[in-house]
Amino acid sequence: MIRTEICAMLGAKYPIVQAPMGPYDTKELAIAVTNAGGFGMVSHPEPSAEQIQKVVSGGDVTEAFRSVNEKLKSTLVEVKSKADGHFGVNLRVAPEQPEVPELLDMIIEMRNSDPELREKLVLLVTSAGDPSQPHLQKIKQNKMKWFHVVPTVYHAKKAEKNGVDGLVATGYEAGGHVTFFPVHTMVLVPAVVEAVDVPVVAGGGFCDGRGLIAALALGAKAIYMGTRFIATLESDFSMPSKEAITSSAERFGKENATLVTQGFFGPLRHLRNAFSEKLDQMVKAEAPQLEILKYELEGSMKAFGPEGDVVNGALWSGQVAIRLKDIPKVSDLIERIMSEAEETLKSMCLLSA
Ligand SMILES: Cc1cc2nc3c(=O)[nH]c(=O)nc-3n(C[C@H](O)[C@H](O)[C@H](O)COP(=O)(O)O)c2cc1C
Repeated sequence: MIRTEICAMLGAKYPIVQAPMGPYDTKELAIAVTNAGGFGMVSHPEPSAEQIQKVVSGGDVTEAFRSVNEKLKSTLVEVKSKADGHFGVNLRVAPEQPEVPELLDMIIEMRNSDPELREKLVLLVTSAGDPSQPHLQKIKQNKMKWFHVVPTVYHAKKAEKNGVDGLVATGYEAGGHVTFFPVHTMVLVPAVVEAVDVPVVAGGGFCDGRGLIAALALGAKAIYMGTRFIATLESDFSMPSKEAITSSAERFGKENATLVTQGFFGPLRHLRNAFSEKLDQMVKAEAPQLEILKYELEGSMKAFGPEGDVVNGALWSGQVAIRLKDIPKVSDLIERIMSEAEETLKSMCLLSA
């Protein structure tokens, strides 16, 4: 069986980490991934689009952030009770997330007062911001493992200097927010592995056993999959959005199936649809930032939420969408990836000279 130091560090059977996908819920997904021997991740929630719009137009921020705290708290409790193993949680630590210090304190307090949660919730992954913010040191002081997501070697070294236990190196093919420095996984992962001493998890473009072996060959110790896990039976995303992902290759033919647009919070990779094409046009026409934010908020839950409007809603997705053809059960997917990985290793018999 293929095991790596990430399996030992996080207490997972397989070196497959489910990427967090806030603001969308990944509660059912995290439970299914952990129960299938991978490592499930709870995502950082956001206030509802209506609450954000109220705040943007001068409303009270307290109520909006209270709802985020409550949502994260109840998700952690539920994942703890239904997951038969270890899992993690993501916090985006960008300046636009002023609620993070309070959320971090809440997570620590919950772990300190609940031995079962302390045993199961072992990892905090920070992303989208500066790992040198002093309050982040509380993660390690409270004996959680701390990983940080990095898009460059510079950011990797900075995070290592601040004491992280591991890094997630995510290439430009990934779904959702992508880097301002468009370097893909194939180049980024070995560059980061060579630059640091902590273990590296590879993200962006993974969906199968061949990819897992490729990641290990590049020096990573696990893969970090988002888009592949959206298109699974248990994932919390709407069925039409899963089908939009698994049909993206046919629908778009030779056209690129995904589109990176400069959203209000930076570059974002979407599946190409009416929503993302209009957003792209608005950005190119230099529409006011608040108008862009409003448009993004309105579309944010339309496709992935219960409405399932895959034409007018945001469909954040990685380039790997075009390789996905099915919507399997999480446990079948994970077992398939692991047996493909073993097969791939066996089939790689090189000719001797
Ligand atoms: C719908 C969606 C939402 C995401 N939200 C977050 C997030 O809240 N925090 C974060 O660090 N990364 C987020 N990401 C990025 C993923 O964690 C991960 O890096 C990415 O999905 C890996 O590439 P892949 O999609 O090719 O598997 C998101 C990705 C998607 C597709």
